Amino acid sequence: MQRKPLLCANWKMFRPPDGWDATDSPYRSQARADIVIFPTHLHITKCIKAKMLVGAQYGRPEPEGAFTGDVSMQMLKAQGCSYALCGHSERRQNHGETDIFIAEQIIAALEAGLHPILCIGETKEEYDKGKTQSILKRQLSPVSMINSLPAVLSSVVSIAYEPVWAIGSGINALPADIQNIHTFIRSLLPEQSQKSTRILYGGSVNELNASGFLAHEDIDGLLVGACSLEVEKFTEIMRSIS
Ligand code: PGA
Repeated sequence: MQRKPLLCANWKMFRPPDGWDATDSPYRSQARADIVIFPTHLHITKCIKAKMLVGAQYGRPEPEGAFTGDVSMQMLKAQGCSYALCGHSERRQNHGETDIFIAEQIIAALEAGLHPILCIGETKEEYDKGKTQSILKRQLSPVSMINSLPAVLSSVVSIAYEPVWAIGSGINALPADIQNIHTFIRSLLPEQSQKSTRILYGGSVNELNASGFLAHEDIDGLLVGACSLEVEKFTEIMRSIS
């Protein structure tokens, strides 16, 4: 099955890079690939006005309530967002997000009409102990919760495999190893959405290694952090999508 490539720029808690909204900006979606930027919540409106495909780095499941500092999935959709990251490892680590909470985020995102991207990945310690598969199985449990949803909904969830030890470390995983892990992840998905689900890789992706990942059958796109803040490098990454 032909899955449309998905390239995500995770700007984390940084300002949009100079030149991000130029007419030839690499952050604009194209016919051959969905290119989505994830700015801070403060920059979302500006990016939507610039006609970019925009995602939220985080959204709370409840539609509204006494949650100081939070923004709901429903509000993000109303603002014009299309996508939402759920369970990025920095949120799991810094904000104690649990698998149950992440499952609630995914359901809320789907109900709001957002396209959730579930982020999963093992730590260095778990990797060294050979626990990668069991950790991924556990982190994918939210997907089994959405198994009961109609196929049309469950197939709009994407997965981003980001080994924690590869994020921001400059140590990227080997593309062939990632292909094997993505095959494993795909085998754990509900049958109805196995072929249609896009599985991205993230972790120290740069302009030199991007094409090596994208050459593999089960690597349907990339979630890029640091290099997505450098317009020239991100342009090269965008060009590596064939
Ligand atoms: P990195 O970040 O590309 O800087 O490693 C990826 C991410 O955190 O999504």
